[in-house]
Amino acid sequence: MRLFALLVPLLCFAQRPVEYRIHRAPSAIKVDARLDEPGWRFAPPTSEFIFNWHESGEKEPTEAKLLWDDENLYVSWRCSDKHISALETKRHGPVSKDDCVEIFLSPNPAAVKNYYTFEINAIGTMLNRCRTSWWTGPPTWEPEGVEHRTTFHGLARKDESSEDHEWIVEMAIPLKNFARNAAHMPPLPGDEWRLNLMRTGGKTNAQHSTWSPIPPGSQKSFHTPENFGKVVFDAEPASRRTARAAVSYEGAAEGKTIYNRSCTMCHGLDGAAGDRAPALGAQRRYTRRTQAELFDAIRNGIKGTGMPGSPMPEADIRKIIAFLFSIRATAVDLPVTGDVEAGSKVFHGKGGCSGCHMIRGQGGLLGPDLTNIGAERRMEELRHALIGPRPVPVRGFQPVTLRTKAGAVIRGVVKNENNFSMQVLGRDNKLHLLLRDEVTSATYEKDPPMPAGFDRKLTAAEFEDLLAFLSRQSRRKAQ
Ligand code: HEC
Ligand code: HEC
Repeated sequence: MRLFALLVPLLCFAQRPVEYRIHRAPSAIKVDARLDEPGWRFAPPTSEFIFNWHESGEKEPTEAKLLWDDENLYVSWRCSDKHISALETKRHGPVSKDDCVEIFLSPNPAAVKNYYTFEINAIGTMLNRCRTSWWTGPPTWEPEGVEHRTTFHGLARKDESSEDHEWIVEMAIPLKNFARNAAHMPPLPGDEWRLNLMRTGGKTNAQHSTWSPIPPGSQKSFHTPENFGKVVFDAEPASRRTARAAVSYEGAAEGKTIYNRSCTMCHGLDGAAGDRAPALGAQRRYTRRTQAELFDAIRNGIKGTGMPGSPMPEADIRKIIAFLFSIRATAVDLPVTGDVEAGSKVFHGKGGCSGCHMIRGQGGLLGPDLTNIGAERRMEELRHALIGPRPVPVRGFQPVTLRTKAGAVIRGVVKNENNFSMQVLGRDNKLHLLLRDEVTSATYEKDPPMPAGFDRKLTAAEFEDLLAFLSRQSRRKAQ
């Protein structure tokens, strides 16, 4: 029993070594605690901070991000906080008593005990130390050229207020400060450093939280470099693509069940619009776009609206968010279980799809080109397309049978028509241009040319493989 109790937490930690890819900043970063550059918008947030020694009180989330260029490492923290306070204004003063963020950074993973610290309170006072084998100076350290700004930068003090809701810290650390330890300066893409990001202090609800967990059994201290997470310098600039690739869909299926149980008093079933609240899965522009923003809205509610906060466990909220993202995402964004290669064989073979559909210049003309279908449609839409039936023929694909004065019968779909002429793409993959005078009869059919019921015509595995193959058809690179 005792052994079991001990093993469980150890196993949990063993499963989640944290790692973060630092993307390059796509444009210049102005250190102003606003985080409005594209780099910050698109940089993926780190995984959620862990409350290693939590006893009681609200666990307020932190969204941390990193970027780099040849000059600087950029770090940002967006701290949800209902009680923001800071008093220390003296350089290298004890800022961690105040609401404070920290980064401890080790540029050489082979000698992780050599690390540098940056601690900044909510009014912008900083404390630095250089805990390296070569440092012989005083207990504090003066890094060169660091720029930092906080939401309450430069105030003589920050007292708690009922308006408090979040504060931001943005900083640029010149990489040359780490030249002594780093393998390359500037780092090469693929270089690995180790670091931890933390948050602590404040008068009310002073929680300790860290990006990389500090497992039970180790010293209860941020100064445990053996627990630092891993970061890798990535050559790719932060972009829409990197942002999409970083979204988590873990637990989406369970999230759907929890959502349908807990939220459909107001919102609609499966993410549709409800009587008292908007659709959460519609193709519209949402004001809250990141997973952290959704977390905040669901946990705390949206002030001044009918959207209440929810006391449900954090893990459940995260699963709901995964579900909401999965129904908003286009197919290419979602991870798939099917085998893409096998799906390609179904597409070109048993499914007979390539007879009517073109992909990258290969295949038939009757149906729409599917080269980019994974980026244009959501997974559910692809599934429905294969199962059918579609209620109304899609514009440009109205099936028709024509008889001409010359005695020909042409079966195909109407591409264009007006009072004088018709353009019909025939089952022979040829475009037929006819004047109305030449046509003796035109029979419009109700059944769309795209066959339905592939969920029955194919085995379950073939169907999933085919879906996986379709979902990866995208002009941009799949994740
Ligand atoms: C009492 C009714 C009610 C309940 C229950 C409710 N919501 Fe809402 N929700 C609303 C309303 C109203 C809005 C629109 C707020 C606005 O105008 O911005 C909203 C907005 C939202 C938004 C923001 C949409 C956006 O812009 O991105 C999310 C996300 C959301 N709700 C999720 C949930 C989840 C998840 C649950 C269940 C845990 C839930 N809601 C339960 C009423 C409700
Ligand atoms: C006889 C010709 C034909 C065959 C065979 C056929 N399709 Fe289609 N397909 C069409 C046509 C025409 C449309 C457009 C009209 C519609 O959606 O009904 C279409 C629509 C689609 C769509 C929806 C496209 C969109 O823009 O939303 C998908 C996805 C699709 N087909 C996939 C397939 C797959 C996969 C197969 C093989 C299992 C297949 N089709 C077999 C003719 C065909």
